[in-house]
Amino acid sequence: MSVDEAIRLRRSVRGFLAREVPEATLREVFALAQCAPSNCNVQPWTPHVVSGEKLKRLREALVAAGMRDEPIKPDWPADGKFTGVYRERQVGAAQALYGAMGVARNDTVGRKMAYIRNHAFFDAPPAVLIFMREPFDTREAADIGMYAQTLMLAFTARGIASCAQGALGLFPDIAREHLEVPNHYKLLFGISFGYEDRDVEANAARVDRATIDDAVRFHR
Ligand SMILES: Cc1cc2nc3c(=O)[nH]c(=O)nc-3n(C[C@H](O)[C@H](O)[C@H](O)COP(=O)(O)O)c2cc1C
Repeated sequence: MSVDEAIRLRRSVRGFLAREVPEATLREVFALAQCAPSNCNVQPWTPHVVSGEKLKRLREALVAAGMRDEPIKPDWPADGKFTGVYRERQVGAAQALYGAMGVARNDTVGRKMAYIRNHAFFDAPPAVLIFMREPFDTREAADIGMYAQTLMLAFTARGIASCAQGALGLFPDIAREHLEVPNHYKLLFGISFGYEDRDVEANAARVDRATIDDAVRFHR
């Protein structure tokens, strides 16, 4: 698969088969992602890959916290700062997803259950939670974005689907406790991955993009 094809094919998948990702493939992809660029080559990412019993227990704890409506305690504020066109895009993405799932806008229970699927890692058999140590901040987070996309494209090229999830960073204390991660490692987001379950309605959701003319300013 060419790089162009992988970039175009990758999309967020929110429903996975129980089929495991082979250990060799997992190692190959994470080795490849180490090639991601970073400021001064500091490589500020600390990914924790979790599967099996550990993932089952973490999933249960996160779903329970979500179902109890426990107040979120993210390491970085997760408040809604989207206005104007950004808000329109956010709403558009939500409509695409809830539309595919058949969840109406005023169906608060349906929306909550759809959201909780995040905490269940969309049934993915493995996931990666990406931590960043203190005092790293915005600059290093940009490096981690590059790392994450490298990872997801490498997955795509191997027929493995993924979904980056800020929602997995809303209860970082639970994640740190389960994975025995020290407090000075802050949780940015997670990525669920595995083989797409094409029968999951959410996986029919598609979102578009602004055109190049809307997005890019060329200076000469
Ligand atoms: C850092 C990051 C966090 C995200 N968090 C979530 C999330 O919590 N839940 C979710 O369902 N999708 C999440 N997404 C997926 C976005 O909604 C998705 O990338 C966007 O709508 C574009 O769709 P596409 O990935 O299918 O191209 C996240 C994506 C990124 C890059």
